[in-house]
Amino acid sequence: MNLPQLEDLGDVDGRRVLLRADFNVPLEDGEIVDDMRIRAALPTIRWLVDHGARVTACSHLGRPKGEPVPDLSIEPVRRRLAELAPGVELMENLRFDPGETDNDADFVKRLVEGRDAYVNDAFGASHRAHASIVGPPQHLPSAAGRLLAREVEVLLGLRESPRRPFVALLGGAKVSDKLGVIEALLEVVDTLLVGGGMAFTFFVAQGHDVGDSLVEEDQVDSCRDLLDRSDAIRLPSDITALGPGGEIGEPSAGGEVRQLGVDLPSGWRGLDVGPGTAAEFSDVILDAGSVLWNGPMGVFEDARFVAGTRALAQAVADTRAFTVVGGGDSAAALAEFGLAGEVDHLSTGGGASLELLEQGDLPGLEALREGTQHG
Ligand code: 3PG
Ligand code: MG
Repeated sequence: MNLPQLEDLGDVDGRRVLLRADFNVPLEDGEIVDDMRIRAALPTIRWLVDHGARVTACSHLGRPKGEPVPDLSIEPVRRRLAELAPGVELMENLRFDPGETDNDADFVKRLVEGRDAYVNDAFGASHRAHASIVGPPQHLPSAAGRLLAREVEVLLGLRESPRRPFVALLGGAKVSDKLGVIEALLEVVDTLLVGGGMAFTFFVAQGHDVGDSLVEEDQVDSCRDLLDRSDAIRLPSDITALGPGGEIGEPSAGGEVRQLGVDLPSGWRGLDVGPGTAAEFSDVILDAGSVLWNGPMGVFEDARFVAGTRALAQAVADTRAFTVVGGGDSAAALAEFGLAGEVDHLSTGGGASLELLEQGDLPGLEALREGTQHG
């Protein structure tokens, strides 16, 4: 994809650059739990600073609804950024103003006022047609930052010319979140491995009893249709399930944990793929040419249901295939297992990476390509 690059901005010495980053980091009690998204923007920041630009960064943080929320103040991010990139200014949380999500023209004007150029390095937010993402390229010479450019290159590369066999490993709770990307991936993958809560809606489509497992009834027909159309989809062959009375995250509440087949008795909830599935899926991943992983295999926050996700994360780390992992929960799982450094590309975007794989484009990328002013 032909995106304007930093070099296309021409000489930035002494110019005031507005940098949209995705500093939407996880916070706990006002402390940053994982600063990966801040560190990921450093190559772009360094390039700009080294070339003499005066950088003002901006980002959203969480989902305040157009008004200030003290807990979502950008202050913790500002402190961390000051350590990593001294001298770079950071605006307050963009979503404290309703103009950001509304893509309001006056808000865009305030953002670009007094600036000479705009850089979008907010890959994780580029699927949002929000003011700071799509507005500035209509007013300022604009470019993609290094992180954004790399994310697009890797994800579109996977979509357009993957090393084969191309294996996608998808998990997560809800199939409704992933139907679009499943459809798009079925056009290109050799094998689509399905785990996590979403597998149960597929099992229902096949006529299995899933006990009290999570099922999206309104997606059963879509799942049946996908299974009819494609033989690339592989589902788990065994399940780790929690018996009646058990509670997720509360081992002391009791409830038996058992490895079962794919038919579960009533009262039982499937919460992880079983050891057989973990081994089968791992073999497929170890033999792949490229692997895309998005979504955990089970409720890995509960140690009783972490084994499937851990085994598959290890396979993704061990395979010689080119490995790409989506942001969000799968990134968190990799980090928890100490495997974040073992993959080729760990995306900073959850929703954005899925939408780019699905659509082949994002509002933020379109805005950069169509920007009225270059260089
Ligand atoms: C993310 O964390 O997925 C991005 O920062 C986008 O945030 P949003 O889903 O609140 O738009
Ligand atoms: Mg999100």
